Amino acid sequence: MTAPKKLFIKTYGCQMNVYDSERMLEALAGQGYESTDSAEDADLILLNTCHIREKAAEKVYSELGRYKDLRAAKPDLKIGVAGCVAQAEGEEIMRRQPMVDLVVGPQSYHRLPDLEARARSGQKALDTDFPEDDKFAALKGRGPKAKRGPAAFLTVQEGCDKFCAFCVVPYTRGAEVSRPAAQVIAEAQDLVERGVREITLLGQNVNAYHGAGEGGDWSLARLIRELSKIDGLARIRFTTSHPNDMDDDLIAAHGDCDKLMPYLHLPVQAGSDRILKRMNRKHTAESYIRLIERLRDARPDLHLSGDFIVGFPEETEEDFQATLDLIEEVRYGSAFSFKYSTRPGTPAETRDQVPEDVKSDRLQRLQALLTRQQRALQDAMVGREVDVLFEKPGRMAGQMVGKSEYLHAVHVTADDIAPGDLRRVLVTDSAPNSLAGTLV
Ligand code: 5AD
Ligand code: SF4
Repeated sequence: MTAPKKLFIKTYGCQMNVYDSERMLEALAGQGYESTDSAEDADLILLNTCHIREKAAEKVYSELGRYKDLRAAKPDLKIGVAGCVAQAEGEEIMRRQPMVDLVVGPQSYHRLPDLEARARSGQKALDTDFPEDDKFAALKGRGPKAKRGPAAFLTVQEGCDKFCAFCVVPYTRGAEVSRPAAQVIAEAQDLVERGVREITLLGQNVNAYHGAGEGGDWSLARLIRELSKIDGLARIRFTTSHPNDMDDDLIAAHGDCDKLMPYLHLPVQAGSDRILKRMNRKHTAESYIRLIERLRDARPDLHLSGDFIVGFPEETEEDFQATLDLIEEVRYGSAFSFKYSTRPGTPAETRDQVPEDVKSDRLQRLQALLTRQQRALQDAMVGREVDVLFEKPGRMAGQMVGKSEYLHAVHVTADDIAPGDLRRVLVTDSAPNSLAGTLV
């Protein structure tokens, strides 16, 4: 038997890329590959790239530069670029950086075995198609018996039809497509059989899910209700959502579906209606706040998370204040915030830009407020009990780390906890980014 070949995948960007990287490894397992954590050991290096923010391609070039010596020392080493930068700029990358043997987009990586074989035979292999065939149906599955950690991602929907004026996703990932419900349920069952207890359903617009199912298209709420019937699956989460796709049943599910966790990532991006309109968000600050109220009526302890962009073209100080006001009103448990950066080919690219120093100043003020809120909500957990799904050992001896239902990282020191255990914990301490506690 020949020795297994080693695959090193470096993953950038969102959780969907994390999921895709796992499946790329699977796709190549049939070619005799197994995964390695070190580029030095690799026979194939894949960069699974993200295109969402500035200078994505430059980051790829500088990362590729780091493999120059490796490649010189090991001529058989093949190097590939995958993900959204590959989709958008793959041909250019191949031209500019001759070291790249293989380029594969997010919709065609089920063809990796063939692409790898072509690269091995000395050809350049590029595939950035949006194929007709179903990538997920073509992927062979995870192979017999491979055990998994307690928490897993499962992509159920890809692409986006929303066309927010700042965003490249509709161009790189294409139109919204949902996986058939039966396919998702089968994959979830398979994950649970491998030890998974928590599944996060992923999609660029996951709450727009409309996969074919029994009796017609299923909504995300319907899918979640069905998945919650799987024995052994303890927790379900989903991300990322658009406010306009939050339907009544999904709101209700937060109140009546025990396995759906009380944490919701619901980006609003900005708090000024003028800017929201310019962003093509198709909702107002007021409609977002009303939606949050309905969600909190269904689930009073819901922790909210969001994405914010500061310095979108034409944003005034007054517009920015409206974002701060919205944040004050909503109270976020966590959030991601960014300075607007122009993305090629998007409608906002050519508009009047806000000066860089103004963006930096606004980002600092916004993050200070979000950090204060996050800390206050987290500190308020001290003295309360949470359910923790333990995932792995912590950095200190005897310590285990897991996630609360609200997605806080929680540290507990005890010698009778194993990964996959779901235990009640009394929170005793709040550190900047985690909680500590004792078993109840
Ligand atoms: N500039 C800054 N942030 C952006 N995002 C998407 N496109 C841009 C851009 N051009 C942010 C949005 C989105 C998150 C994933 O990335 O907040 O929700
Ligand atoms: Fe991008 Fe807007 Fe679609 Fe989210 S909803 S992926 S921000 S276009």
